[in-house]
Amino acid sequence: HSVIKKICCIGAGYVASTFTSPTSPPSCPKNPDVEVTIVDLSERRIQAWQSDDLPIHEPDLLEVVQSARDAIIEGRKPNLFFSTNVDQAIKEADCIFVSVNTPTKTIGRGQGRQSEMSYVEAAIRKIAEVAEDDKIIVEKSTVPVRTAERMREILAANCRPGVSFEILSNPEFLAEGTAIKNLLTPDRIIIGSLNTAAGLSAAESLVDIYATWVPRNRIITMNLWSSELAKLAANCILAQRISSINALSAICEVTGADIAEVSYACGLDSRIGPKMLGASVGFGGSCLKKDILSLAYIAESLHLPQVADYWRSINDINEYQKDRFSRRIVECLHHSLTNKRIAILGFAFKKDTGDVRESAAISIVNDLVSEGGSIAIYDPKAPDENIWYELESTSPDIKLLHERVTIYRSAHEACVGAHAVVIVTEWDEFSNKTKAKPLPAVDATTPPRTPLATVAPQEGYIESKETKPVAGRVDWAHVATVMRKPMYIFDGRNVIDEVKLEAMGFRVEGIGKAGTVRVS
Ligand code: NAI
Repeated sequence: HSVIKKICCIGAGYVASTFTSPTSPPSCPKNPDVEVTIVDLSERRIQAWQSDDLPIHEPDLLEVVQSARDAIIEGRKPNLFFSTNVDQAIKEADCIFVSVNTPTKTIGRGQGRQSEMSYVEAAIRKIAEVAEDDKIIVEKSTVPVRTAERMREILAANCRPGVSFEILSNPEFLAEGTAIKNLLTPDRIIIGSLNTAAGLSAAESLVDIYATWVPRNRIITMNLWSSELAKLAANCILAQRISSINALSAICEVTGADIAEVSYACGLDSRIGPKMLGASVGFGGSCLKKDILSLAYIAESLHLPQVADYWRSINDINEYQKDRFSRRIVECLHHSLTNKRIAILGFAFKKDTGDVRESAAISIVNDLVSEGGSIAIYDPKAPDENIWYELESTSPDIKLLHERVTIYRSAHEACVGAHAVVIVTEWDEFSNKTKAKPLPAVDATTPPRTPLATVAPQEGYIESKETKPVAGRVDWAHVATVMRKPMYIFDGRNVIDEVKLEAMGFRVEGIGKAGTVRVS
């Protein structure tokens, strides 16, 4: 099989950050000869990648990019480049990754349900138009199953004579907020190919690239269609766990069961495991909702309506969870937000990312504005312009939105004069929990009767994340002096130790814990 020396990645978004790994000495000292060029149509995005103010926030990303892009290690050549010259990068590469966006369609047939494939198609047409020699094309974007077949048709109809392409599927499993950790030590790398000599050979070429930093037994090759479907399946199963625990949280709120304990008890079952079982205000991000919609649409197109309904119900529970949370806020505040100020802590869809796409904060802020509230938002990393973009594109009244919403530079400022604080993102700086204690030993002969206070959720639960001392952690004692009474905290992520804050006079309403009102 051929040796890949030059890689082009089309699309310089979140997923592009994974292309820092084959070039970066900390992950990959053995790959100094591989060159990666990341291209995008957006001049602004490329300029940001060339600067030290990267277009996305990820812990440790800047260091990894700098080491490859700027060759800050002595004796190394730079081998990571960013460019808007898409044609040249395609021409020079042996292997082209397509990492463009595949959002949900907003117009025409299948709008609101089907994946928008026009960006992928444009990238494929561009490759067909400019490639002068054989290329391996890798689907990195999350795509509907059998997309490679359509790509093949477009390539065959448009390419130059004598040029041939092999298409591989290599879905990306990174989680925003832990992208660098995921790319340096991935759970698995999936490479799908056709079961032909040329397909298998192309897959081996890609295996070689990953094998320079990923243990070989974590690189799995498989049939192309399985690989395409596996990515959608993984995201839908992850979302299904969140909606399952969130659906249970509604039962907890009216029965006196505590979702943290229920989740802990379930997660100790080795068949279930503890991860992705933290109850919350609902999942967000650019992927889970759209991938469920895409899988459901595929099922519907295959005349499998029951399957489609099953997957869609996961998004329905998510919408219900967000809506229930907004209604709980309004009901606790005596059914009226007129002349009331609400501080929203966190706007990103989860901690350690600045990404606000599909964040639960969007619908919550819009709901609270339409109830008459004044909203004070603070998020440590989400760019203001992205917050405004998301709010404006979903607001029924943009003028009112701007009258009622202000973005602040610190949590403390946002809380001044607030009747309620709403925690939407689990940023460490909002939590008052101390370091999680180790798991109690499980001993079958003497069943543990752990006192409630020492039940320590396992690693992987949202509320168990070690809350290391963070400079600038919210000083809740100070907040108590600047808020209006009664002081409500709506903890959409269960990051607050309510015993401590209730002792300071706060009323804490957590997800999946009995509260002041019953909202169903
Ligand atoms: P993104 O929206 O951040 O970036 C996509 C980039 O592609 C944009 O900068 C856009 O300008 C560029 N682009 C679009 N069409 C182009 C073209 N024809 N030529 C050159 N550039 C073009 O998207 P993100 O989040 O990186 O996602 C990309 C794909 O990866 C999607 O299919 C997504 O579902 C999938 N994915 C995303 C993950 C994430 O955590 N964000 C994780 C795993 C998969």
